[in-house]
Amino acid sequence: MNSIIEQLRSRLTESLTVGFGADFQAVEPMVVPASNPKFGDYQSNISLSLSKQLGQPPRAIAEKLLQHLDVTGICQPPTIAGPGFINLTLEPAYLEAQLSNIQTDPRLGVQLAKTPQHIIVDFSSPNIAKEMHVGHLRSTIIGDCIARILEFRGHEVLRLNHVGDWGTQFGMLIAYLREAYPEALTTSNALDLGDLVALYRKAKQRFDADEEFQETARQEVVKLQTGEEDSRQAWQLLCEQSRREFQVIYDLLDVKLIERGESFYNPLLPSVVEDLEQLGLLVEDAGAKCVFLEGFTNKTGEPLPLIIKKSDGGYNYATTDLAAIRYRIGQDGAERIIYVTDAGQANHFTQIFQVARRAGWLTDEVQVVHVPFGLVQGEDGKKLKTRSGETVRLRELLDEAIARARTDFEARLQQEGREETEAFKANVAQIIGISAVKYADLSQNRTSNYIFSFDKMLSFQGNTAVYMLYAYVRVQGISRKGNIDFEQLGAEAKVFLQEETELALGKHLLQLSEVLTLVEADLLPNRICQYLYELSQKFNQFYDQCPVLKAEEPLRTSRLVLCDLTAQTLKLGLSLLGISVLERM
Ligand code: ARG
Repeated sequence: MNSIIEQLRSRLTESLTVGFGADFQAVEPMVVPASNPKFGDYQSNISLSLSKQLGQPPRAIAEKLLQHLDVTGICQPPTIAGPGFINLTLEPAYLEAQLSNIQTDPRLGVQLAKTPQHIIVDFSSPNIAKEMHVGHLRSTIIGDCIARILEFRGHEVLRLNHVGDWGTQFGMLIAYLREAYPEALTTSNALDLGDLVALYRKAKQRFDADEEFQETARQEVVKLQTGEEDSRQAWQLLCEQSRREFQVIYDLLDVKLIERGESFYNPLLPSVVEDLEQLGLLVEDAGAKCVFLEGFTNKTGEPLPLIIKKSDGGYNYATTDLAAIRYRIGQDGAERIIYVTDAGQANHFTQIFQVARRAGWLTDEVQVVHVPFGLVQGEDGKKLKTRSGETVRLRELLDEAIARARTDFEARLQQEGREETEAFKANVAQIIGISAVKYADLSQNRTSNYIFSFDKMLSFQGNTAVYMLYAYVRVQGISRKGNIDFEQLGAEAKVFLQEETELALGKHLLQLSEVLTLVEADLLPNRICQYLYELSQKFNQFYDQCPVLKAEEPLRTSRLVLCDLTAQTLKLGLSLLGISVLERM
């Protein structure tokens, strides 16, 4: 079924064309959720916006629209308010029928996209031999969530890990490896490189202190670029090791990615330069080949160059991204490309998009979006650091979340006098810990910075994963207590929305589709969190006010359906955030 708002839109479009002519087919009928429940459930301001064009007072337009507006069966008779707002209030009988329908639909009434697209989500993308930091964690969590939503809507999603696996730092690393661990390069598995970050630090120290070493490192870069066997092998070794470390995090987070690092695009870089040259876009500037950007100037007001090929012949981060965008459109057939990185890279992407557009590689048929996010801050409001001032290691961060969840859980078990097995406790702690971290990130508007607080994210109060997981468990508790198998309720189970709280819950349950449509467009996962949070609250209000197991039939079954739908919606909604539910906790 189409979402309620879509149905109302198409009814309004119909009345527009009947009332004012076929030209109005393409006019957006401006149906939005009502700003205040006393105006009903939805409203349209279309009469106000058309007033000028039609040369008629809004109220007259609204009256004409209502003459032709057929929403019987969906809404109560529409009313006009103020200068000409059209107010729509849903008919309980309609809601009841919709709710019974979706109860047996695993998609809960969420339709598949009418025109599925090839979409690339470029996310996570840490750098080899460098720390995968909290910024990469945000990218991983947000990118995975966006991919899950688009997949659920039926799009063909390619989840790409644009790993930083190429660049001059490898010269330094390989030179250091040769010097400090020569056996690692000749015998396979001779050495566990262990902490690559420490290796990187040592190599960097060596590099900064010794000019001769710098020269060796530079030669290593050349050897790597010309494909010399043992340099490539050393590079492989480093990548392999990093990959293993990243994978631990991806497994913990249950995130799937296809690695296609920067090195993948290496062979394509020369043709990026050549083709830009042929198109007349390249300018030689102080030995470097650049494209001068439109709309970007330096401090003195001169146009800013984007360096495509450096004077030493090397390429840049930007060159690789140009090759990548071209490949993704040309070879992967991407119709939408989504890049999830910190807000600091906004200019980089605007520039890439501009050059790709000017080169004709990026056309209007393809949508490219940078999905920026803010910083992760410590509770002091500064950049997140460990107590000793170092960058926080992701592995340790996630482990700590799990450990804290475990401590809280055990305290609760003791309070409630419960005994649980070790496996059960470990599983609960793992799910709560990881969910808390993910949810804390996703529930913020991603564009703002967010404060990382274990205490807040693990709290039972407020808009947290625990609160949501608990609401789900509460419903499962009802089914256990009443010995009810929700799946047996069946399609013929009728829903009745009599009490205020039932009606509010019922309406909210039917809005999932609407929320997902919004997220699909603006890629703001916090909308889903907000939706689920309100759902849990509405459910709790309903459950406080309305007896369920003790109610008389047919209300009892109806309320059980509402409970079940709440649980199914929570489960589905959370799964789109990359969070799994617990049956008990
Ligand atoms: N490796 C980069 C970083 O750590 C992120 C790459 C994002 N994707 C891209 N196509 N540029 O900041």
